[in-house]
Amino acid sequence: MNLLTYVMHLAGSGAIAYYSAAQIRDPKTRPNVLAGFQLAESGSVPFLQTLSDRAAAEGDTWLAEKLAKHAEDEKRHGQIFAHALKQLDKKVIDFKSSKETTKETTKESKSQEGRSPFFAAYFKGYSPEQLKPAVTAWDVFMPSTYILELDASKDFARMANVLPESDPTARNLKLGMLNIAKDETGHAAYLYEAMMRRMSATQVQKLVDEWRTRKVDALMAFASNMLQSKNNNASLVQDAAPSESDSELMAA
Ligand SMILES: [Fe+2]
Ligand SMILES: [Fe+2]
Repeated sequence: MNLLTYVMHLAGSGAIAYYSAAQIRDPKTRPNVLAGFQLAESGSVPFLQTLSDRAAAEGDTWLAEKLAKHAEDEKRHGQIFAHALKQLDKKVIDFKSSKETTKETTKESKSQEGRSPFFAAYFKGYSPEQLKPAVTAWDVFMPSTYILELDASKDFARMANVLPESDPTARNLKLGMLNIAKDETGHAAYLYEAMMRRMSATQVQKLVDEWRTRKVDALMAFASNMLQSKNNNASLVQDAAPSESDSELMAA
């Protein structure tokens, strides 16, 4: 990594950390932040499970087990955020069951996914097809995820530490997020080890540098999009209706 990339990395993560800390500290914006995390954490589960199956099919039992544990951890992280939302009497908008808006939101979320400036910049040069878990190259998945997990562990710890101690709900969330941060550190560690098992130290360093540079570019893309965006606060949450979720539980 060259010095400029490093400095930009520090500046970029500092700015995003400041922004997300402010968002999670403010009770008005907190539900939306939690919903975003719930969707991201739970959303990664099928991806990781497929990768685990693939590693097993390729005969790499060590990696298959690590990935299966990783998938379980991310599922639990999603549940921690869902629980925190429930304590605020909120839940993630159920896009599937809201009939009038289904068409709109599907269209919207698809185009959002395609346009996510962060991921577009991070995975520049790779088509969505190439990033599917059934085919994605291990030397793309491993370093790209390593960098994201490493940074997520620091970001979650920083955000946890700005939550107020006085409010029991926020204190609960703080403890949950500190645990999540610890898991993310573990994910980064096994991904690094996985690279070291397959490649030389020089190759690993090269990949880590490449994806660190990509992350810096992606943060810049994200930040400039945020400054220009008219619609960056689209709501992801709705009020939880206890009777409705109870009947869902009974039906399940
Ligand atoms: Fe996670
Ligand atoms: Fe993780």
